[in-house]
Amino acid sequence: MKKFELPPLPYAYEALQPVISKEIMTLHHDKHHAAYVNGANAALEKLEKSRKGEMEIDMKATLRDISFNLSGHNLHSMFWPNMGSNKGGTPGGKIADQINKDFGSFASFQKEFSAAAKTTEGNGWAVLAFHPQTEQLFVIQLEKHNVAAIPGLRPLLVLDVWEHAYYLDYKNDRAKYVDSWWNVVNWDDVEKTFSKL
Ligand SMILES: [Fe+2]
Repeated sequence: MKKFELPPLPYAYEALQPVISKEIMTLHHDKHHAAYVNGANAALEKLEKSRKGEMEIDMKATLRDISFNLSGHNLHSMFWPNMGSNKGGTPGGKIADQINKDFGSFASFQKEFSAAAKTTEGNGWAVLAFHPQTEQLFVIQLEKHNVAAIPGLRPLLVLDVWEHAYYLDYKNDRAKYVDSWWNVVNWDDVEKTFSKL
């Protein structure tokens, strides 16, 4: 079985300051993201042993572990390139046209996405995703990494609102983190992903 690997950050740990500190980025990437990669690989190893008859596993628990950890790994792998230093602003290209078509305006999209991020219960994510069959964008909330997911949607832009993503910098003020985060959104990366669909 192919193992999952922790991708390197596409920029320096301090690149997103002052929006996100070097300390948060270091812990977030090197510890939290790494833990999801390790968790997904550990669950895969159990499956591998089960298939070879070397181990009896709790199938429900193992598949739950894979869903949770692999979702965490995939979301963080998108989150890092979704951001960059001296970014933010408004998008151009096809994604701008699609946002205007589906949300009416960039401001309307931004309001909906921010509200999703600020009201996600407990730990989770706000996600902008595309539904290819109906060719429209959706904003969704993912609690944890995988609760309330909609199969078939293709994520384009993800915002981590787990406390580990902001607490050291913003304490309990998640709304301030979400509002500041727009200044590091890398719309070129979103456009690149969208163009490949
Ligand atoms: Fe995270």
